[in-house]
Amino acid sequence: MQQPLVITIDGPAGAGKSTLGALLAERLGYLYFDTGVMYRALTLVALQAGLDLTQPEPLEALAQQVLIEVVPPTQSDGRQYTVLTDGQDVTWAIRSPEVERGVSLVARYPAVRRELIRQQQQIGLRGHVVLVGRDAGTVVMPDAPLKIYLEASLDERARRRTQERSGDEAQPLEDVRSAIARRDSLDAHVLRPAPDAVILQNDGLTPEDEVAWIMDYIARHG
Ligand code: DC
Repeated sequence: MQQPLVITIDGPAGAGKSTLGALLAERLGYLYFDTGVMYRALTLVALQAGLDLTQPEPLEALAQQVLIEVVPPTQSDGRQYTVLTDGQDVTWAIRSPEVERGVSLVARYPAVRRELIRQQQQIGLRGHVVLVGRDAGTVVMPDAPLKIYLEASLDERARRRTQERSGDEAQPLEDVRSAIARRDSLDAHVLRPAPDAVILQNDGLTPEDEVAWIMDYIARHG
């Protein structure tokens, strides 16, 4: 396989999609684009506007109005990119517990998905992009020449999340495990591997191992 111009990475919460996506994009000199950011940004703007997240129509209208941009990092505070909604920096705000609680609901509405997927496709079609999400390989870019579906056991995902969060943010492993299991069931409506996806089970692998595996896969399928 020649270097594919679009690579999709899908998989459940905590499987390591963002870490792998960012590293792979850096290695290939591609843009890294995390589609989950768009659902989070829309949820944040909706909450700021006082919208009721159980009502899809205003959310659909908002999805069409608000300008969500993901640009290279504008500050060196550990961010991988900067997220702007109508020019406002919301990079950290989209990770808040309120957004975390509301985003699965917002991401369920077909009309909201349709609009955000349309915007994601515009980014994907420019090429040289690693597109990360839940349905990047099945719906957003079904013709992408390389689709990766990351899997990791629930225990491994919970362990990783616990290690990421320390100090004030630390939570007991069991709580993290149940939160991820809940997220799995909420995301189940979109989450499935594309028929031609390469399944990568990454328990015990480092992100470097995964990138090496993928680069080798690209070379072997040349
Ligand atoms: O990957 P994440 O945790 O940032 O995703 C946030 C939410 O958005 C999560 O509930 C799944 C949903 N999502 C989605 O439905 N489709 C995508 N392509 C990406 C994320």
